Parts: sequence; structure tokens; C-alpha cells
Amino acid sequence: MDQHTVTIATGDQVPCAEDQPLLDAALRRGVWLPNSCNQGTCGTCTVRVVDGTVDHRDSPHVTLSPTDRTQGLALACQATPCGDVVIEPEHSSGGAGAVHPLRDLVGTVTAIEDIAEETRSVVLRLDEPLGFTPGQYIELTVPGTASQRHYSIANVPGPDGTTRKIELHIKRQPDGLASDRWVFDTMSIGERVEVSGPLGDFRCADLDSDGGIIMVAGGTGLAPILPILQTLLDARPDREVHLYQSARTKEELYARELLSELETRHANLVVKPCLTRQTWGGRTGYASDFIVEDFGTLRGWSGYLCGPPALVEAGRRAFKRRRMSPRRIHWEKYTSAVTGSITVPT
Ligand code: FES
Repeated sequence: MDQHTVTIATGDQVPCAEDQPLLDAALRRGVWLPNSCNQGTCGTCTVRVVDGTVDHRDSPHVTLSPTDRTQGLALACQATPCGDVVIEPEHSSGGAGAVHPLRDLVGTVTAIEDIAEETRSVVLRLDEPLGFTPGQYIELTVPGTASQRHYSIANVPGPDGTTRKIELHIKRQPDGLASDRWVFDTMSIGERVEVSGPLGDFRCADLDSDGGIIMVAGGTGLAPILPILQTLLDARPDREVHLYQSARTKEELYARELLSELETRHANLVVKPCLTRQTWGGRTGYASDFIVEDFGTLRGWSGYLCGPPALVEAGRRAFKRRRMSPRRIHWEKYTSAVTGSITVPT
């Protein structure tokens, strides 16, 4: 297989096989390129091919139109090099933090626990430590298939930025190849699993800013929010943080104990659970409406959103309505098949 050289406008050069996506080649060498869904749907990884040509492979037309292609754009997560190429990312990365090379590892399932209705925590112990930035995700290969699924890492790494322990929060999708037929059916303690990661752009940002922070987590969208929250609280205990935890019913709310412990330890943290489909002792309605209700202005604040696309979009609108700067809004959207992020931060 021919090897080509991919030069990124920053000056970094990486070798790339003829059938290897440009993004994969860069991330494996620890060279950062913005990325989110890694399946051609979000456009976060769009690059301009400044020199040379690429094969667009399975790049969907809805993400990369024929006009985009003639204008020299490509999706780095799909395109492969036809020779040596020079590329320039179209989007800047939304987050900050160390860049950990993408790796393929093997791990063992050490714990499986039901943590909410149709929601499981799965803990893996990797054979080797994996470095990642809180908020990023990994890719699991579904046993006996060539299919991969993305799951956010719900725990923080150790002080050196690495860990062997990976915790995932997985919601059962009806008839889902990975969740229903594997995680909620055949997965067992001691099972060996193939893991690739870390991936994704959703991570701590604006650490140097002094403004408050609003986080919105819908369902298992809490998974990447938890390590980001813990990292922010440790780094900047002086900043005010409001976490809206949204679920359809009380039975779907989880991590209540951990969140109340964090609230006890951090006077500046307020956790606000809200349900969308059930009347209870707390708030019923949409987190986005409560944000507008609770805050007159969010100028100078930062926002983090993760969960179903509708929740993320409504939250972004609420932030903008209350004058939060678009560059301070960070988000990740979950789809049913893939729990990686699918849109580009503004
Ligand atoms: S389209 Fe490439 S990361 Fe989403």
C-alpha cells in the first residue's frame, strides 16, 4: 500500500496510507485536526485541499456538496490521499487541552450496572492506559461485526491525563445493534472489547474566563458533561456553575448521588433537574425555557450542552437569546446510532 505525506497548514507532516482517511493519519500521530462525528455527517473536519488531490470516498453530498468539492473542500474523516497533499482546516477547534494520539486498544468489561431506566453504566479496564481530555469519546467495535459505536467517557483521567478505567453510560435503543443486542443482552463481565480513541472536540474550554457556566445534559448526555464539570470545578472553584439535568421521567434521572456530593463540596454549583414528560415535585418543562426564565443576561458566561439534537438546538437558542457569545457555546449532539458529537462548534 502506497504511503503519502499529508502536510497540515500548521507545518505538521504525517504519513498516510492510500486507503487511510486524512483525519485518522493525523490523530494517530498526535496532530490535532478538528473532528466530531467521524462518520461524515457534521462537517467539523472540513479541510481545504491546498495542494494535491484526494479521493472523497463515502463523503455524503449532504455534508460535502459537489460545489464544495470543486472548491477544494474535503471531509478529513472520509477523504484519502491520491498522492502527497497539503490541507488547511476550515474550522478552529472548539476546546483546549492536551492532544492525545488516537490509539487502538483492548479492554475487559469489569462492571455492568443499571443506573436508570433502560440506562447502563459499563466499566472497562484497558490493557494499557489511554490519554484523553474530559468530554472526548471512544469507539467500540460491536463483537462479530465490522460496526463501531461511539460512547462518551464519563470519568476523568488521572493526574497524568491517562487512565486504564473507562466508564460509559449507555441508553438502550430499541433493536439497537450495540445497545439492545449487545450491551443489554449478551455483554458479560470479563468480556474483551476493542476500543479506539480518544475522539471528538467536546471538552473544557474558556478555563481562563471569569464568567459563570451553564451546562445542559439531556439523558446520557450527562456522560461527557460529568468529567468536564469535575475538571472545571477543580480548576476554577470560584466560578458559578448551573447544571440543568434533563430527562423525560424521574426514572431516567441518574448520578443523583454524585451530583449532590459535588453540590455539597462546591458552593458555586447548582444542579437543576427537570423532567419533560412527568409532573413531579420539581420542575417540569424544557431546560431551554428554564434558562430564559432564570437568567436576564448571560453576557460573559460559557455554555456546554450535550444530548439529543432538539435539546441542544433549543439550548443554543436560549443562550443566544440571553446574549451568550456564540464562541463560548460548546456542544455535542447525540444520535440514536452513534453517541459521538455531530456538529461543529461555532
Ligand atoms: S464529518 Fe468528519 S468529523 Fe464529522
